[in-house]
Amino acid sequence: MRIIAVVGSNRRGNTYSMVEAACHGLSDSEVELLHLKDLNIESCDGCLTCDRTGSCHMKDDMEKILSRMKVADGFIFGTPARWSLLSGELKVFFDRLNPLALTQSLKGKKAIVLVVGQTEGDEAISIENTVTSVKYFCESAGIEIVDVLVADGCLEPNDLITKKPEILNKCKLSSKKLFQSL
Ligand SMILES: Cc1cc2nc3c(=O)[nH]c(=O)nc-3n(C[C@H](O)[C@H](O)[C@H](O)COP(=O)(O)O)c2cc1C
Repeated sequence: MRIIAVVGSNRRGNTYSMVEAACHGLSDSEVELLHLKDLNIESCDGCLTCDRTGSCHMKDDMEKILSRMKVADGFIFGTPARWSLLSGELKVFFDRLNPLALTQSLKGKKAIVLVVGQTEGDEAISIENTVTSVKYFCESAGIEIVDVLVADGCLEPNDLITKKPEILNKCKLSSKKLFQSL
């Protein structure tokens, strides 16, 4: 069983805490954590070569990640809400998955989605919109979402740990749910 966990925020903050906690629900041999800020991943240049060839001409860390994503069974996608959307970091990553998405290579794989934002109550619609934006990608790529976890009211990087520690356990349970679905 192979699961790839993606942290879609450059800072080591709330998204990182959620994804890390989810990884703790799995054994080390099952999960690989990718903090996008540590990787050299260029923005998609939109050349659409992958439409014709099924592969990407860009030479960066995404080359190896694409082959690992292709054989992985499941994914953990974590992002902060950014203007009611997924983060730019995760969007760049999703764009670069186009060679796999359009060859149906991700079809049937499973994922959990972890989202954090500063808004609360009625205003937390922006976090729900962020979830929707991640769902759009997953649905288009044929990835089945088995669980979604949202943490609201978290602005500063440690807010999740200090104000909402119960969410960390929920993240762990969510990854177990992912594992059981595979
Ligand atoms: C440019 C920008 C846009 C943001 N937009 C939203 C938003 O639409 N809704 C929300 O609830 N929080 C929003 N936030 C707050 C972040 O989601 C929040 O600080 C989150 O905890 C950051 O996660 P991180 O610690 O993993 O980076 C935004 C933050 C930034 C920097």
